[in-house]
This record gives sequence, structure tokens and C-alpha cells, in this order.
Amino acid sequence: MLPGTGSPEQKAGSAESGSAKRPVTFRTAHGGLHGEVRVPGDKSLSHRALLLGAVATGPVPISGFLRAADTLSTLAAIRSLGVTVEDGGGEELLVRGRGWEGLSEPEDVIDVGNAGTLIRLLPGILAGIDRFAVLTGDASIRRRPMERIVRPLAAMGAAVSGREGGRYAPLALRGGNLRGIEHRMEVSSAQVKSCLLFAGLRAEGGTTVIDPGASRDHTERLLEFAGISVKRSPQGAPGETWVRVEPVDSFRLPAVRIPADTSSAAFLAVAALVVPGSEVSLVQVGLNPTRTGLFRVLRRMGARLEIAPDAGESSRASGPEPMGTVRAHSSELRATDVGPEEVPGMIDELPIWAVAAAKAVGTSRLRGAAELRVKESDRISGMAELLRGIGVEVFEYQDGLDIVGRPQGWPGGTVEARVDHRLAMAGAVAGLASSGQVTVDDMRSAAVSFPGFIATIESLQAG
Ligand code: S3P
Repeated sequence: MLPGTGSPEQKAGSAESGSAKRPVTFRTAHGGLHGEVRVPGDKSLSHRALLLGAVATGPVPISGFLRAADTLSTLAAIRSLGVTVEDGGGEELLVRGRGWEGLSEPEDVIDVGNAGTLIRLLPGILAGIDRFAVLTGDASIRRRPMERIVRPLAAMGAAVSGREGGRYAPLALRGGNLRGIEHRMEVSSAQVKSCLLFAGLRAEGGTTVIDPGASRDHTERLLEFAGISVKRSPQGAPGETWVRVEPVDSFRLPAVRIPADTSSAAFLAVAALVVPGSEVSLVQVGLNPTRTGLFRVLRRMGARLEIAPDAGESSRASGPEPMGTVRAHSSELRATDVGPEEVPGMIDELPIWAVAAAKAVGTSRLRGAAELRVKESDRISGMAELLRGIGVEVFEYQDGLDIVGRPQGWPGGTVEARVDHRLAMAGAVAGLASSGQVTVDDMRSAAVSFPGFIATIESLQAG
């Protein structure tokens, strides 16, 4: 098994740090990819364990923590609120929760770096206390829409403002005296939902969030794991979902065990599917059904993908989230259509899905994915440019793409990653499956979610 650490890009710290870009060339992986890997811990859960741990009462042990640029920003943020975190530098941490009232006012601006989850979730925690805080981040963060949290938090009674009338960061916030609301989200977003659920824990009356889709439910599971009552629509039901919380005075959070990141695993699973002669096993991968949409779609495309939950995982007794092994073998893929109802369950995997679609027989269509335009970069145009850059025909729409598959492979070329970790890693995988090579202009951003990505790829090539 590979530890998944130690590559130079891990030291980059932030997607924008350092002066020199780090171009990397990925060549045809002759002989395929082979091996067993535990990719680093889940990003969504690492953020949530720290944030909820900060306002729990007493110590919260966390294992499987993702030590990457985004989640280290969250660690720094809770420390700036006076929370002690015992950190030996590995995947285990101990957060000494202080409850909301134990948090202190941060002395300086909180810099979230590139972490969208942090800048959208932390205001939900801060809205519950009478403290002043200012949050900002890198250039990508300052372009991302914030009105979606600013408006409902203001409706709950928090004093919250931001640049351009609350549309963009920096955000300034003073919380306290919240009342519960019913909020219908315009777009399915786990970040907005989680922000409001955190705020709802400190509001008078209940807080209900209605989601037009079924966004990831890590916050709901973590709250339930902490013994907090969460009412919600039946799981697995298609269409709209809803969730409701009531205020709590205090709670304890038992030890949180974080699975390997489903989204990081997705890059290696697709790499195995599209590189001939490969067989890769990904162990302890998070198998939360609100995150595994890509695996369902790949199977529909003919992917040889075996998914085996770990023994005892159905009980959830040992942690808030199920995990298991995903085994991927090289496959002949068929084109498929991905529609709006499937998008939330594979939102972060769409860049790597595009690489799988490029290898399929026929034309694949993606629709209802306009949200991708406001991620770390505009991922619709980024994916289109990536595919064109390597020699794949693609048509761009406001909310999606048509990708004309090239099952015989593609020649390769150059990819602009746009300081976006998922575009950079998708470009790398496209290089391994090319008949020539792909040069990604800058691989430093991989450190945002997958430290050790390049070292892991190299080990799988060495097999
Ligand atoms: C996340 C939710 C998603 C996802 C992001 C992580 C989370 O964002 O794209 O990478 O941890 O809640 P949205 O809520 O904006 O869809």
C-alpha cells in the first residue's frame, strides 16, 4: 500500500504559493497501472470534523485527517478562534472543543486560501456567537458567489456583509441572536446547507433547508453521530430533499474516523479504466451514496468497477461514514448522458468523468451542470479547453458539454490547469492514457486536495 505522501507538490502549501509554476509532463503509461492505494483522507469530512469539533464540548479525536492546503486552512482558522488542536503532523489530531461561547474573537482576518468549503461553512459557526470576524481567500475564492450564504444568514439575524453588496469575499460577520428559518436553496449545495444547519444549532426555533437535489449529507451524518437530532427526507429518494435541525446547548462529538477521499479515489479509478492493462485497488474509500454518483455512471458506461463495503460498515458503529474497497480494471467504455439529477452526486468528479467520456465509444452529453462555472475555476470551459488541447472533439453549452469519444485514444498536448486542482489531476490522467504526452502547465494545485498525487501515480506505474 502506498502512503500517498511525500511528493514535491505537497510542499507547495497553497495553489498560488511560491513564484514558479510547476509544469509536469505525463506520458503514456505503457504496461498499465497496478497496485493498492489508500488515497489521503476526505476533504469534506476533514473540514467538518474540525469545525464541529471546535464547538463540541471536550476532546474530539480525529483520524484519517486530510493534511492538504484546504484543510490546513481550516485548522489555522479554528486555532485563530482560540481552539487548541494537538497535532503531531500526521493523520491524527485532537481538537479540544470549547463550545460556541468558548470561542474567542479572531485578532486578524481569517484567510481561507483556496477553500470554498471553509468560507461557506465557518460563517455558519460564527453566526451563532457575538464576535466580529472577517474572512477572505485567494483570487479564486474572491470570485466565487457568497450571496447564497450571506442572504439566508442575514435572514436569520446575523450581521453579515461582503464586497459588492454581499456577493463576494471578503466577508465581515457578527453573529448572535439568531432565529430559525425555512430556506429553499436555488441550487443544490452542501456548503450552503451545512452553513445553515450549523447556524440553526444556535437559532431560536427550528431551521429547515430545502435542497432541489440530493447534495452530500456529511454534515447531517456528523450531527447525528454527535447525538444531535436531525430530521430529514427519506434517504435515496429522487428529486428534492429537506433537512431540519433544532437548537442545542452543548454536545459531545465521539472520535471521528475519516475515510479516504472518494473524489481523490475517482482520479485513480478512472486512470485504471482508461489506461490499458491496469488493475488498481483503492482501499478505505468513502462510500457515502451522496458521493458515489460517478461510480454508478461509470458502471453504466461499461466500467469494470467492483465496490466492496468493508465488513461491519453497514452499522456505522465505528464512524460517521461507510467505507470500502473500489477495484478498477481497464475497460471498454460506452458513451452516456449525465443529466441535472445526477450532477450533485458527482459534482467534483465531472472533470475526471470528462476524461472517461473522451475514451468512450460515442458522444456523451452533460447537462444541468452550470454550477461548475463557479467552482475553483470555470470548469465547463476548463474541461472543454482541456479536451481540445489533447485532441478530443467537444462542444460547450452554458450548462454542460458534448464529448465525442475517441476510444482509440488521443495524441496529447498541453493543458492549462487554471490553478484548479481537479483540472490539473484530470490533465495528468489524460496524459497517462494518451498515445503521446500531456504537459500540465502547473501541478502545484493538486496539493489543495491530494498531496502526493504525482508520487502515487509514479508508484502505480512502477506497479
Ligand atoms: C462541498 C460541496 C460541494 C463541492 C465541494 C465540497 C462540501 O460544493 O463541490 O468541493 O464539502 O460541502 P457546493 O456546495 O458548492 O456544491
